[in-house]
Amino acid sequence: MSDGSPDTRILCIGAGYVGGPTMAVIAAKCPDVKVTVVDINPERIARWNSDRLPIYEPGLDGVVREARGRNLFFSTDIEAGIREADIIFVSVNTPTKTFGTGAGMAADLQYWEKTARQIRECADTPKVIVEKSTLPVKTAQAMKRIFDAGDHENRFTVLSNPEFLAEGTAVNDLENPDRVLIGSDETSAGIHARDRLVDIYARWVPRDRILTTNIWSSELSKLVSNAFLAQRISSVNAISALCEKTDADITEVTRAVGMDSRLGNRFLNASVGFGGSCFKKDILNLVYLCRFYGLNEVADYWEGVVHINNYQKERFVVNMLGQMFHTLSGKRICLFGFAFKAHTGDTRESPGIFIAKRLIEEQAELIVTDPQALESARRDLADAEGRVQYTEDPYTAAAGAEAIALITEWPEYASLDYERIFQSMVHPSFIFDGRNLLDHRRLHEIGFNVFPIGMPALTHFHEEHDMRA
Ligand code: NAD
Ligand code: UGA
Repeated sequence: MSDGSPDTRILCIGAGYVGGPTMAVIAAKCPDVKVTVVDINPERIARWNSDRLPIYEPGLDGVVREARGRNLFFSTDIEAGIREADIIFVSVNTPTKTFGTGAGMAADLQYWEKTARQIRECADTPKVIVEKSTLPVKTAQAMKRIFDAGDHENRFTVLSNPEFLAEGTAVNDLENPDRVLIGSDETSAGIHARDRLVDIYARWVPRDRILTTNIWSSELSKLVSNAFLAQRISSVNAISALCEKTDADITEVTRAVGMDSRLGNRFLNASVGFGGSCFKKDILNLVYLCRFYGLNEVADYWEGVVHINNYQKERFVVNMLGQMFHTLSGKRICLFGFAFKAHTGDTRESPGIFIAKRLIEEQAELIVTDPQALESARRDLADAEGRVQYTEDPYTAAAGAEAIALITEWPEYASLDYERIFQSMVHPSFIFDGRNLLDHRRLHEIGFNVFPIGMPALTHFHEEHDMRA
């Protein structure tokens, strides 16, 4: 039986931001492969089977509609799924541990291990198990030990196939990946399983973008890719602080730096700090691994990326406080955007959460607007009920506010009628542009006091001293 034959049955355990879109694209690209996605969360599965998918991702509705019911299925019957499948992707969450040894640093592998044990118990034929979740190096070894316990030896072959999609562009990233990485043991079983997976991706990904490595390199490359990406943002954000002290402009600096073809011009936007469910978690995981192996200098180096990110978020709040005359008590402040980036409704680790909580600590009254993330924002700020209002309409949100803090770079925020917004706000009116998205000169002409990231502020105040906090 060759892969791609109607007999290939793929199961994915975990119907989240990775499992859902990844499997939808595999099903769309391989109509003759049966793809089933299972999850312990029945509500999530019900949403995947409905017209209102559980995640907002541009282009995803169309891909799911194309394949669902044909060769793409969403179900809560995990055991039946395991029995039926030849290839099982595991895409459960691997959050940072919150208890015991490694709390706040190491990956919490309980969901992953439970899944491994469930696979072992239910499987009655040989399976290829694909690590899709992001995992610490050497997890595959632990998995193999669980799978091989008892009389199950040699029935399971473990591959590492980390996912590199970014939210907001997931469908495009999956359809046109920079690379697909597949790690395996160098045994004949490992190589055979790896080739089966290569054949599936090769249906739409050029062969020279399918990279095969040993399993440990594959696991580590995922952590390192995220660490490098996050490091780039922390590098830019660190320099944005220096720009504000020296009247340099971070957008001019990053343009000059990014024109060096060795560095490239992408992923150099100064911001209010990076968010998302993975960057911080994966760097802390890397830091934990380095400390575990006694590499304290290496651990300290990478931990600095997270320190700078925390510093950037705190700096944003402290600047707001300083500019708004050192008190925010009772002031109405509007947050434009709450998602951790544009084009997603995901708010996990969004800088918006930290900033909202800090502003509430300063006794500000908040009003949050976001085109996709208000449901999550309500959950994130549930403890602050009564201090936060929510509205989808940015004009309603800004009316009566003293300041706007732009948290998410939704493109629609760039083209709002800011004259109208200015007229509806309390004066003096402030805009803190945490994404350098807006036309700062124009806002200043309208009457706003404008505070971008990493470039000179534009104010209507005439103090002799530097206004920066
Ligand atoms: P998620 O929380 O959105 O989805 C995980 C799903 O797994 C949840 O629906 C949960 O109910 C389910 N689950 C947990 N335990 C289960 C079990 N025992 N059986 C069945 N289902 C179970 O997480 P995610 O964002 O999709 O991330 C999954 C993994 O992929 C993580 O390791 C993450 O680091 C990695 N990753 C995420 C992204 C991203 O953009 N979100 C990108 C690349 C890699
Ligand atoms: C990131 C990686 O880009 C993916 O390759 C990876 O698969 C994924 O993490 C993961 O492992 O979960 P994601 O977090 O979805 O994807 O989104 P990014 O586009 O990387 O943005 C992360 C954060 O950095 C966002 O808060 C974003 O606003 C911020 N960012 C990004 C900046 O502040 N400046 C930039 O120039 C780029």
